Amino acid sequence: MSAAAEPPTVLVVSCSLSATSRSRVLAEAAVAALRRRGVSAGLIDLQEWDLPLCDGGDCYDHPSVEPLTRRIQAADALLVASPIYNYDVNAAAKNLVELTGAAWSDKPVGFLCTAGGRRSYMAPIGLANSLMFDFRSLVVPRFVYAVKEDFDESGAVTDPLRERVEQLAAAAVDLARALDWLHAAAGPAGRPA
Ligand SMILES: Cc1cc2nc3c(=O)[nH]c(=O)nc-3n(C[C@H](O)[C@H](O)[C@H](O)COP(=O)(O)O)c2cc1C
Repeated sequence: MSAAAEPPTVLVVSCSLSATSRSRVLAEAAVAALRRRGVSAGLIDLQEWDLPLCDGGDCYDHPSVEPLTRRIQAADALLVASPIYNYDVNAAAKNLVELTGAAWSDKPVGFLCTAGGRRSYMAPIGLANSLMFDFRSLVVPRFVYAVKEDFDESGAVTDPLRERVEQLAAAAVDLARALDWLHAAAGPAGRPA
């Protein structure tokens, strides 16, 4: 993205492997919210990707890993849509970060989560911390956290939830724009190594 001209590119990654996923519905709502803001938004659904489990070695040669890494690398900001499993994001979300690591560097990252109950609200914080400390990602300090009651009978997001998705999308875009401005103002010498 160039400072003033282009809108940022935001990639939404849906990490649930469930065919009836609610977090995927959130991911789609986020893409729609981003597009309403004139942002170039893409969706990656991990259900459509044949990915290996990270073994720290041969996995990086798997044919899916390089194109996925490039998509993440090309984004100015990322939104992770994940189910909450065992008080954490699901293993597919963590595996994605293990496989694509440095592609997340210095980017705003936001979270949209669905859970069975309201008590796992802090669950994405483990992955958020590791993204901050490993890759200097800028975590959007606003999570979207939803349970079954936040969706209507047809499975669509209800209005209060839609508003939270809009706010997350706006915050991610603002952060991407601010970061771009900062890098442009600092010049090449001021860009992070
Ligand atoms: C293995 C497993 C572990 C889960 N752990 C939690 C949990 O710790 N806290 C919670 O609130 N819900 C938990 N749930 C419920 C899921 O978060 C919930 O079904 C959510 O909607 C799944 O997201 P999805 O619909 O996008 O797949 C768990 C579900 C599964 C299958």
